[in-house]
Amino acid sequence: MNSVEGKIALVSGGARGLGGMTAKKLAEAGAKVLITDLREEEALVTLDEIATAGGEALFFKHDVAIEEDWAAAVKFAADQFGGLDIVVNNAGVASAAKPIEKLSLESWRQLTSINLDGVFLGIKHAIPLLRERAPMWSGGGSIINISSIMGFIGGVRSAAYCASKGGVRLLTKAAALELASSKIRVNSVHPGFIDTPLLRGGVDAAERRHEGGGQKYVDSIVARHPVGRLGREEDIANAVRYLASDDSSFMTGTEMVVDGGYLAQ
Ligand SMILES: NC(=O)c1ccc[n+]([C@@H]2O[C@H](COP(=O)([O-])OP(=O)(O)OC[C@H]3O[C@@H](n4cnc5c(N)ncnc54)[C@H](O)[C@@H]3O)[C@@H](O)[C@H]2O)c1
Repeated sequence: MNSVEGKIALVSGGARGLGGMTAKKLAEAGAKVLITDLREEEALVTLDEIATAGGEALFFKHDVAIEEDWAAAVKFAADQFGGLDIVVNNAGVASAAKPIEKLSLESWRQLTSINLDGVFLGIKHAIPLLRERAPMWSGGGSIINISSIMGFIGGVRSAAYCASKGGVRLLTKAAALELASSKIRVNSVHPGFIDTPLLRGGVDAAERRHEGGGQKYVDSIVARHPVGRLGREEDIANAVRYLASDDSSFMTGTEMVVDGGYLAQ
């Protein structure tokens, strides 16, 4: 089930959090994984965990917002692994948590350059390699873009984040239409609130604002998820693994919401 045996995957932002867990799940299911990230130290820990579990992975340091970095990362995948079958555009940063009136154009551009431009560049540069190997698999090549529930709904003090994640949702559909004839599938994943270092950053900030604020923040988020808990990294990584595998071969241009019921309300 959900096998990606023999496939080659690139996971951006794969050093930690959702990307780190996704890299581990893909490696466990038999894929060779290229982790790309700015964070070398955390990436090396993840690589170690994969190797200890008997998986195969490499690290390439790159910034998803820089086009030349993408060209170099894709070349590295070709040189080291011989191509690409799966690309998980996961790298992203959290909202600047400012109201629109106080949000500088520079902050807006900085966030969207990572969360949206980074996904565009990842798709653009991976296409030639994905196209080459797509005929080998019943499910073809697979691109999975990590959006958010905030790609469907707005949030206060989250304008740039929501805009970037909504952009990822429709970029996914446009790419899916363009690439279907090349046997490359493109889908988006929309996590609810997941317990990762990114979310913990928000908890710590709430705690700094006032004592006990961190726990209050967690409780308020949990209350918005009908299943009554935060998401776990595995919840998202398992969904990505499914979309990466041939089991999802009839799925393209669609949204997989993994949110404990958040958007059903
Ligand atoms: N955690 C959540 O609740 C949640 C919810 C919805 C969507 N998401 C999305 O999931 C993705 C992963 O989030 P996470 O919670 O694991 O965050 P995280 O901060 O734990 O991990 C993100 C990783 O991306 C890397 N990264 C950031 N900017 C980069 C850049 N310019 N180039 C290369 N790497 C870069 C970071 O170094 C980090 O290792 C993000 O796109 C995020 O928006 C997260």
